[in-house]
Amino acid sequence: MSKRWNVYVTRMLPQPAIDLLKEYCDVEINPDDQVLSHEELLTKVKGRDAVLCLLTDTIDDEVFAAAGSQCKLFANYAVGFNNVDVEAATKRGVMISNTPDVLTDATADLAWTLLFSVARRVVESDKYLRDGKFQGWGPMLLLGRDITGKTLGVIGTGRIGGNFAKKAKGFEMKILYNDVTPNPQFEAETGGVYVDKETLLKTADFISVHVPLLPSTRHLISTNEFKLMKPTAILINTSRGPVVDEKALVYALQTNEIWGAGLDVFENEPAVEPRLLECENAVLLPHVASATIDTRTNMGLIAVRNILAAMQGAVPPTLVNI
Ligand code: DGY
Repeated sequence: MSKRWNVYVTRMLPQPAIDLLKEYCDVEINPDDQVLSHEELLTKVKGRDAVLCLLTDTIDDEVFAAAGSQCKLFANYAVGFNNVDVEAATKRGVMISNTPDVLTDATADLAWTLLFSVARRVVESDKYLRDGKFQGWGPMLLLGRDITGKTLGVIGTGRIGGNFAKKAKGFEMKILYNDVTPNPQFEAETGGVYVDKETLLKTADFISVHVPLLPSTRHLISTNEFKLMKPTAILINTSRGPVVDEKALVYALQTNEIWGAGLDVFENEPAVEPRLLECENAVLLPHVASATIDTRTNMGLIAVRNILAAMQGAVPPTLVNI
């Protein structure tokens, strides 16, 4: 039997995950439902065997140093791990794990939710009615854009991009995609056609980005990209905020260079570019793509299983380094 690990959890998570962790480990959880300051984090990780952290925690070399050399694993409660300095972790022999797969459907579903909401002006229509403006059916009232039969542009064809594209089937959409290289599996599963980024931006009616945040994907969509898009195009981002240049997006929305945008992520979360808040042609959500009860529970269980595997000397099932 391996010794019980001492684990710190940086914020309260769904109970089944916490219950499983507590069965095998000594656990301390941040009692406040808010992000720890970097200083608090440095204090709290000290002496732990593992840390269960979130995408809102900046896990850098200072944190690894503060945790100490006995700390074996940081289990990140997210599929994305751009909040973790993986290189520094690897240098120190610290394992990093993430929570892939279980949030694929929920995230792809929310990308579709945003697409429908922007195309059919759902949020604006709801507000219009609640504001008491509805005077009856009108032939020109809140006209949106068709979805069925249109062209969908998918940038990034990993798990979420692939799942999102598969769901287009019922809407008889033509799928164009772009990625670092062509993706035969994506093509087989979705009928998608590989095109260069410029062709995709010029042709697609809906453009949805599903790339990880890397130096090469920061501001992947910026001024030049908006200029290429059709004035009827709708941009969806459920990946990471800095993939889209928010200032360039505001300009594109304000000048009707594009029809609209649906965003679940922002460049400087939780701050949102104030001018974006004024754009009625944007639907803005507070980073909730994976926010379903089942998905968040399963993310917690995966993070905990990574910790328990490491505690038993096994390779954590969703390790991303070493
Ligand atoms: C992730 O897991 O990276 C998501 O952004 C969480 O919602």
